[in-house]
Amino acid sequence: MDKLLIQGGSPLHGEVSISGAKNAALPILCASLLSAEPLHVTNLPHLNDVSTMLRLIGQMGVEVTMDGSDGLILNSHDLNNPAAPYDMVKTMRASILVLGPLLARCGEAKVSLPGGCAIGARPVDQHIKGLQAMGAEIRVENGYVIAQASRLKGARIVTDMVTVTGTENLMMAAVLAEGETIIENAAREPEVLDLANCLTSMGAHISGAGTDSIKIRGVERLHGASHAVMPDRIETGTYLCAAAATRGAVRLTNTSADYLDSVVQKLREAGCDVLAEPDGIVLKAPQRLKAVNVRTEPYPAFPTDMQAQFMAINCVAEGSAVIRETIFENRFMHAVELIRLGADIKIDANNALVTGVQHLNGATVMATDLRASASLVIAGLVAQGETLIERIYHLDRGYERIEEKLTRLGASVRRVR
Ligand code: EPZ
Repeated sequence: MDKLLIQGGSPLHGEVSISGAKNAALPILCASLLSAEPLHVTNLPHLNDVSTMLRLIGQMGVEVTMDGSDGLILNSHDLNNPAAPYDMVKTMRASILVLGPLLARCGEAKVSLPGGCAIGARPVDQHIKGLQAMGAEIRVENGYVIAQASRLKGARIVTDMVTVTGTENLMMAAVLAEGETIIENAAREPEVLDLANCLTSMGAHISGAGTDSIKIRGVERLHGASHAVMPDRIETGTYLCAAAATRGAVRLTNTSADYLDSVVQKLREAGCDVLAEPDGIVLKAPQRLKAVNVRTEPYPAFPTDMQAQFMAINCVAEGSAVIRETIFENRFMHAVELIRLGADIKIDANNALVTGVQHLNGATVMATDLRASASLVIAGLVAQGETLIERIYHLDRGYERIEEKLTRLGASVRRVR
């Protein structure tokens, strides 16, 4: 299995381009199931999760062709297998996003339950409850969600908690349902809005996307369209944190500060100069960061996907701060690995008290999930000496060409077997 070998101590300097958003690309690829006409998707990131999703919809009958540039043309005219098998779903929970579109387009679906993952149980009860409210008959048998619906009917759905993929699944199901659907307590994440924009370009009638109340008026069918995936705000935030932690100065292009207010605010609180530009964002770090308290909440508050990266920042900042994780029940697994690098972290339930130290020392550490891996990369870039990060397949799920981008910024990092 691949490992990442990092020689720490070099401040990051220079410019790097940000890729398309993984968490927008995945639901948008599923949206191709909703129309018999081709969907052209551009600015797709080259990530393992995107390849997995393409394999998953490919085995359903979606024809995937290159557009000769950086995009793909997805043609689901001959959809013949509305099923998502366990061996594919177990590697990527976001596979559950095919459930709503398959039910809407084919009237049936057999999708493996995703099962838990390292950061939590992550059930999909809200997805199922919402689809049942729209008239789907759903049973869970032998680890599979088996669903039928001659035609889904519009309904008013209030989810028990804010769920990003739950909102996305229900929105995709509703675009072809009979009548009007209202999703209350909807997720406001920018990736939900990007999906809604793609569906609208395909002929869907959606209003309120990006707010906590989304109204969808169902139509008979959708037509083809072309959509560019939005920039990845979490990749953007990750590189901003890496530059901050290493006392560097970077410019990130093909991205925007628009959807990162809470993260930019915390970086400024930590002492960074952050400047939003029309096509990007510039950060200049202080000589020593100040520790900042962080509490994760649904958008537009501080994103849980940036929690691990800020823990790494606080490890080398001046002072102490508390990181509170309110979304997932087990998203502190990077803490014990950071402690191996010399960090001072005390965990109490979903609170982590981090006290900054003068420096971290390189060691061998193990990645446990996608954003935990990013946290270890940031810590390795700062630590004195060599850090070897094992199981970096987690990293490859969500960060395109990370060692190439970091090398461009002056880091000493290479992939080793
Ligand atoms: C999405 O996951 C993202 N993944 C996650 O990013 C992100 O961390 C998460 O939203 C929160 O922002 C994609 O978009 C592909 P949720 P999702 O449903 O939709 C509970 C990354 O690093 N819940 O918003 O699975 C759930 O257990 C990944 O890129 C239920 O109980 O998250 C969690 O505690 C990690 N029942 C909370 O709600 C349900 O039916 C929020 O989960 C659904 C969710």
